[in-house]
Amino acid sequence: MGRVAIVTGGAGLLGSWLIHTLASHNYRKVFVLARGKGDITAKNRVFDALKFCRNGRGSFWKDEAIQIVRGDVCKAHLDLPSVTRTELLKQVTDVFHTAALTDLNASIDLLRQPNVTGTENVFKLALEANRITKHPIRVHHISSVTVAGDSQGWFSENQLTRNQHFHNAYEETKFEAELLAIEYRKRGLNIEIYRPGIITGDSLRGVTSNFKTIYQPLRFLAHNLFKIWPGREDAILSLVPVDKVAEAIWLLSEAEKPPNGVWHLVNTEETSLDKLIEIGTAVFECRRPTLVPAEHFDSGQFSPSQWRMMRPFVPYLNYRLRFSATHTNAVLNDAGFRWPKVDENMLEKLYRYCAKAGFIRARYLGQQPPR
Ligand SMILES: NC(=O)c1ccc[n+]([C@@H]2O[C@H](COP(=O)([O-])OP(=O)(O)OC[C@H]3O[C@@H](n4cnc5c(N)ncnc54)[C@H](OP(=O)(O)O)[C@@H]3O)[C@@H](O)[C@H]2O)c1
Repeated sequence: MGRVAIVTGGAGLLGSWLIHTLASHNYRKVFVLARGKGDITAKNRVFDALKFCRNGRGSFWKDEAIQIVRGDVCKAHLDLPSVTRTELLKQVTDVFHTAALTDLNASIDLLRQPNVTGTENVFKLALEANRITKHPIRVHHISSVTVAGDSQGWFSENQLTRNQHFHNAYEETKFEAELLAIEYRKRGLNIEIYRPGIITGDSLRGVTSNFKTIYQPLRFLAHNLFKIWPGREDAILSLVPVDKVAEAIWLLSEAEKPPNGVWHLVNTEETSLDKLIEIGTAVFECRRPTLVPAEHFDSGQFSPSQWRMMRPFVPYLNYRLRFSATHTNAVLNDAGFRWPKVDENMLEKLYRYCAKAGFIRARYLGQQPPR
């Protein structure tokens, strides 16, 4: 028969790759929850995002396998018309919940709506599906390694609460959503929790539909915006290409194992801020900034607007926390999965795509046209 999925956040970076991955494998139908924006319908937004996944690759799905439903996770029943909802609930076997607000600057009140209330609405819908279908459907909740907040040392898959503080409200709401997942497991829902590291463009071409997280500091670098950065050379960055994250989630969801796991989707090979800057300066032919660890950095050296730009990234430019993924990697290794090497070649692809897409001005790439 094949599985039937609901994917939330379908116009987003990871959401679109998950749709592509599921529909290319054993999912006969993927219902995609997305919103329209301005004049662009939810359907057009999702299919536009899917073009990034098809870029340079064959796709093994037909457009009919993907059905877009307009919805909003913040609203009760995800704002789905009741006929659509009943239809979905009768068929669904798996819910992949990627929708979230990922803004590192947004207020806790704004973030709680999609990230916590929205997650609860998705869990409620899944409980309703359990009742209707009479078989336990599987919920795949996309969390983040940032639930660890300012924890030190190593953070393992079975840990959540360690008296940590959070660097921002985004981290806090992702943590709160995991607490909710634990509560809803007790109510009978099977919930797998996936915690990705820093998601980048795809491993083949470095293509991305959004330039958040690591991409903002890359732009600072390429455009020579700061002579000095509040960061440390040995800051640890776990970069995971979006196509590999989607593949890992699918493989983990298919593996024979007890339900209710927590999975760390972090690269087995760490990257340092030093390496990111070293390769970036070579590719963009830009100036290397001086790195000063946050605890020794005087923010008074920056203008208020410079500090506003840099501040959200400071915790990640000084990151020293490591994530163990023993359990995750054992399952992924058995499935033949390997994280790609974060080498010069991969970083160059990511950087060059920034120029190709116009996110970084091409003149910072000298005479060499972007590949
Ligand atoms: N990117 C990373 O480095 C990273 C790392 C770890 C974990 N994650 C997690 O991975 C997931 C996907 O992140 P991403 O990078 O793919 O982010 P993204 O590109 O911003 O996608 C998030 C999607 O969620 C949708 N969404 C937000 N509020 C919604 C609402 N009220 N109703 C329906 N949809 C809503 C957005 O829709 P609109 O486009 O309509 O706003 C967007 O399409 C998130 O849960 C994030 O926390 C991301």
